[in-house]
Amino acid sequence: MRWALLLLALASAASSQDTCISSDDDPYVLFGTKTAYNFVNRQLSNRRPEDVPGLRWDTSSAGNFTGCLILHAKTQQCKYCCFTAGLASKMVVTIRADLAQGCQPAAIWLLNRHGAHNPEADELSELERLNNYKDNVLNNYRTPGFRTNHNPQMCAADLALLSGWSFNILNRTFAGDLTSAGYMQTQDLGREWRRRYPSLFTTNNHDYLFKFANEKRFTDSFRAFTEGLFGAQAESIVMPRDNDEKLVRPYKFCPTWIKEVNDTSQNSQRNIFESKREFAEMVTNVSLRLGFNYDIDRDIIQRMYQMCRYNKAWDITKKSPWCGAFSREDLRRFEYAEDLETYTKYGYQSDLSPKLGCTQVKDFVNFFRNHVKEDAPVQPRVSVQFAETPLLLMLLTALGARHDNVPLTGDNYHTTAVQSRQWSNSIMDPFNANIAAVLYRCNPNGNFGFKDRYQILFLQNAQTMKIDNCRDGLCEWSHVISKFGDLADKCNLDFCNSAPRLNSFVSLSLTLVAFCFRYVM
Ligand SMILES: *[C@@H]1O[C@H](CO)[C@@H](O)[C@H](O)[C@H]1NC(C)=O
Ligand SMILES: *[C@@H]1O[C@H](CO)[C@@H](O)[C@H](O)[C@H]1NC(C)=O
Ligand SMILES: *[C@@H]1O[C@H](CO)[C@@H](O)[C@H](O)[C@H]1NC(C)=O
Ligand SMILES: *[C@@H]1O[C@H](CO)[C@@H](O)[C@H](O)[C@H]1NC(C)=O
Repeated sequence: MRWALLLLALASAASSQDTCISSDDDPYVLFGTKTAYNFVNRQLSNRRPEDVPGLRWDTSSAGNFTGCLILHAKTQQCKYCCFTAGLASKMVVTIRADLAQGCQPAAIWLLNRHGAHNPEADELSELERLNNYKDNVLNNYRTPGFRTNHNPQMCAADLALLSGWSFNILNRTFAGDLTSAGYMQTQDLGREWRRRYPSLFTTNNHDYLFKFANEKRFTDSFRAFTEGLFGAQAESIVMPRDNDEKLVRPYKFCPTWIKEVNDTSQNSQRNIFESKREFAEMVTNVSLRLGFNYDIDRDIIQRMYQMCRYNKAWDITKKSPWCGAFSREDLRRFEYAEDLETYTKYGYQSDLSPKLGCTQVKDFVNFFRNHVKEDAPVQPRVSVQFAETPLLLMLLTALGARHDNVPLTGDNYHTTAVQSRQWSNSIMDPFNANIAAVLYRCNPNGNFGFKDRYQILFLQNAQTMKIDNCRDGLCEWSHVISKFGDLADKCNLDFCNSAPRLNSFVSLSLTLVAFCFRYVM
């Protein structure tokens, strides 16, 4: 009897702590649109995104090359490599003349999402109320007998972490602003792009064109990025810029999209998913783990998740206290819920996504056309935009990138298609997410099998992006034009102000009914 009790106690002790971030060396940190850039791109500066046959980063340091000329696709080992001392000091390689005639970067087009930021003004008071919830949780754990009777539980270290947490309501003036982590990550990216393409990111302001909305989050992003590029000189270099909001937020000026897509989110797949057993079960488990015998309000759980991912993005080296409330599996469900939301609003679910995203395709196609036509250095050579989630995702749909064969829906969470989905906010849209297209001028007679003199390398978060019929993100210019030229040329936002498409018949019928009612009856 005694033994049986002891065994029972041991068993429940073991199962009661299903999460413990304090002792987890590798916690789950993919938090959808609020994932820190580093977690997606842990070794950004050691990666060689241009590990594509025939490309090298730059040749401006005559004699010393950066990057890798030829990488074996399968083994990932260099066949013919050329590095700067900093990158791989052990490797000294002599370059054969014919191999050195690969490609030269000629222009770059870069679309950036802003970095980590403070909570928005409308989140502040809700997040502050988590202070009370924290106290309730700690009280639950102080109840006599709680630890022996309650399952699952947070581990003692996570509880201690939570007890030290508080959220002090910000001065509203600073709501939504970049945090220092978000600012520094943006600086890092400026430095990183310059390190990769020094011949493009020069100190000549005529080489640049910046585009962003005239709002604090974006003007700060611009400042951070240019500080990264030019260091102390940044202040003194006046950069050409375009602050037309229509360029970076076309959807905001699109009544058709607002009405047909953005305002109808009550029907979204996310809500279907959240009405399913797998989501309800998660709510129950989180409530239990926090010491409640009833399901706590979903909005509150959502807020805890929000705080968990904010804190992690603000300081990636620290444990984020509210994350202790969630198991990995819980976090994956939140991640999917958000993936569904962006899939519906900005993704493949809506045929309006590529119709809005084409504005970006048009922007880079025309930018590069100019360079290709001149076949000589043209200014500007660097186009940089600061924008937000919808624009990046709509561009992806226009490019046909990250397209799942099976649509994401609220009821296929457990399918392998969804578990291995391409459409993942954590990967494609973390803080500081970016999409780049780099135009290379190549020697088509080289050994690399290029047809065209011009090639475009597509990068997502500084890693090669999969585009149909391109090799590892590198596309022939003629292919880019045949694939996207028409989209760019026919791109216009006339549909935004046209009559409603689906409901015209309904509204006509209603008008008729109203007419009959008034005049015939
Ligand atoms: C090339 O690298 C060597 C050794 O690191 C260095 O001494 C030299 O200055 C570099 N040359 C150029 C042009 O950067
Ligand atoms: C908020 O910050 C602004 C700018 O620093 C300051 O002028 C204002 O007095 C602050 N408001 C409060 C309530 O502290
Ligand atoms: C889209 O809807 C959200 C709320 O669901 C709202 O905050 C946002 O302002 C809307 N966007 C536009 C451009 O109307
Ligand atoms: C919830 O807890 C039960 C019992 O511990 C477990 O079987 C189930 O997988 C959990 N569900 C989730 C979504 O974590």
